[in-house]
Amino acid sequence: MKRVFSGVQPTGNIHLGNYLGALKQFVELQEDHECIYCIVDEHAITVPQDPKELRKHILDVAALYLSIGVDPKKSTVFVQSQVSGHAELGWILCCNSYTGELSRMTQFKAKSGGKESVGTGLMTYPVLMAADILLYDTDVVPVGQDQKQHIELTRDLAIRINNKYGEDTFVVPDGRFMKSGARIMSLDDPTSKMSKSAENIHSRISLLDEDSKIKKSIMRATTDSDGEIRFDIENKPGVSNLLNIYSALSGKTVEEILAAQNWRGYGDLKKELVAVTQEALAPIKANYNEIRESEELIKILNEGAERANVIAEKTMKRVRDKFGLGL
Ligand code: AMP
Ligand code: TRP
Repeated sequence: MKRVFSGVQPTGNIHLGNYLGALKQFVELQEDHECIYCIVDEHAITVPQDPKELRKHILDVAALYLSIGVDPKKSTVFVQSQVSGHAELGWILCCNSYTGELSRMTQFKAKSGGKESVGTGLMTYPVLMAADILLYDTDVVPVGQDQKQHIELTRDLAIRINNKYGEDTFVVPDGRFMKSGARIMSLDDPTSKMSKSAENIHSRISLLDEDSKIKKSIMRATTDSDGEIRFDIENKPGVSNLLNIYSALSGKTVEEILAAQNWRGYGDLKKELVAVTQEALAPIKANYNEIRESEELIKILNEGAERANVIAEKTMKRVRDKFGLGL
């Protein structure tokens, strides 16, 4: 069985982009893959975090994983910092990466641009992500489009090290991207991606948003003034984004949606999308509180960490041997 690994940062506001780009794949894949899903708390501290909030967000994301349908009987769910191999392999990979390739990363440039002092972790963060993936001999990594460059780096590092230390050092992984959900754009500015940190709460729909908030955010989403409903990302990014979300939530293609509609204008499209979104998120919200409050949650994470650690230690032993580390 092929192995799957992915992770989400515990930074609050898990939104429709996270769900349609990545989380939805987590559930699909667990039927015929060996899946490992991580809450990557060590990634979160690349920017300052309030310790109490961070702990809370770790459990929030864990509860969300389970609420959307990740089944701890089928998949391993755990917190990154509970398996020390991530940091250890991260260091080894750092020593095999170049500052040039890291400073050229799109996300690093975006996050560091114009700042006087930039945390080193922001630059080395894709290397830690590569360690997360390579630590588990991962075949498939389900993620959103914004992570494509980081997957490429992971592959480059694995191939580079395999060339030097032997082909059996690392498995070279592939990214897996959704057709319509891989890049969900912000509702108020459809030229930038939907993000957890944008100031305007109506730029995103968080998975636990109330129905009234879902309605408000979609009804005020930015469109354009020509009034024509068609899919054209370049010239009509707002309308195309709404159609994309509709497609990803309903499982229908944009063509099917457009062929079946009799909308008189953007208002009708938005109203229907409100209903589709509310319906899709209702079961997640219905499960969430009970799971988040249950004592079972910590137990699942502890057991997950134990299982993950067994796989990680096996890889680390092999890697230490290859590099001549230790005795
Ligand atoms: P993060 O919130 O950065 O930890 O991202 C968690 C997962 O969600 C990653 O696989 C991202 O690629 C994915 N993701 C984040 N934002 C979006 C978006 N706007 N559209 C699609 N996928 C996204
Ligand atoms: N970098 C990813 C993000 O910000 C999160 C992440 C960390 C990840 N490690 C990973 C995703 C390993 C997939 C595999 O979205």
